[in-house]
Amino acid sequence: MKQGSLSQRKTGFLANFIANPKERRRTNLFLLLMVGLILVEGLFVYFNRQQLMTEDFRHYKGTFKQFGSIAQIGFYAAVAIYPIFLLLKNKQIKGIKLGTIELKTILQFVGKLVRTWHVPVALLSTGIVFLHVYMALLRGFKLDFTYISGIITVLFLLPLMYMGLMRFKRNDRNWHFKLAISFLILFFIHANFS
Ligand code: HEM
Ligand code: HEM
Repeated sequence: MKQGSLSQRKTGFLANFIANPKERRRTNLFLLLMVGLILVEGLFVYFNRQQLMTEDFRHYKGTFKQFGSIAQIGFYAAVAIYPIFLLLKNKQIKGIKLGTIELKTILQFVGKLVRTWHVPVALLSTGIVFLHVYMALLRGFKLDFTYISGIITVLFLLPLMYMGLMRFKRNDRNWHFKLAISFLILFFIHANFS
């Protein structure tokens, strides 16, 4: 019986990466949502391509920029895990009170929240940024700073996600963190200096 449940735990999708069944179920659900979102976005572009290709470019650009902005907020929320975990490890916060509540209690609550939603938010943001990228490229690639910085940013997002998967079992040799910081700097430059 014990052996049966053990083998069952090993057979789920991503079981080799994520040991905690609850966390695995949540990740699989949001992975499915991300794939669904990408499919819906693909269909949306396919069925509206006539209108999208002929629309005034400034208006069109305004639309896909909005998807980039929404994804950007999501990626900032995902990165928030780092400073919060850093503060939690800091011994100096012990004893600091905000009114009647200990700062550490607040940080522990926020830490649990960001840890739970880190992967779902990252997956949904990736699903949203797909439409930004797809729409940007649909009307043609331009050899300028915005398009090149955008492509480089996406090229960092893919290994970042894979290393995130390795991070569950601490098999990433800190690459998830290194790629996350590079990705953060890249999309900040792409979004604000174009
Ligand atoms: C993870 C990847 C990406 C993120 C997070 C991202 C995010 C953003 C954000 C936040 C903006 C500014 C929106 C605004 O000002 O309201 C933007 C603008 C833009 N992005 Fe991206 N983007 C990404 C990838 C790409 C890629 C791959 C391309 C195209 C190859 C691209 C093309 C553009 C263009 C053309 C603009 C408009 C710039 C302008 O104002 O002229 N982006 N992006
Ligand atoms: C599929 C996508 C992702 C997965 C599966 C994933 C997974 C993880 C895991 C398991 C951790 C360790 C949490 C802990 O120590 O308890 C982590 C930490 C972290 N993640 Fe992600 N993540 C993903 C996407 C992202 C993205 C898109 C960013 C950046 C925008 C990011 C930035 C970070 C940072 C800065 C940390 C803290 C440093 C570290 O522990 O390495 N992650 N992530």
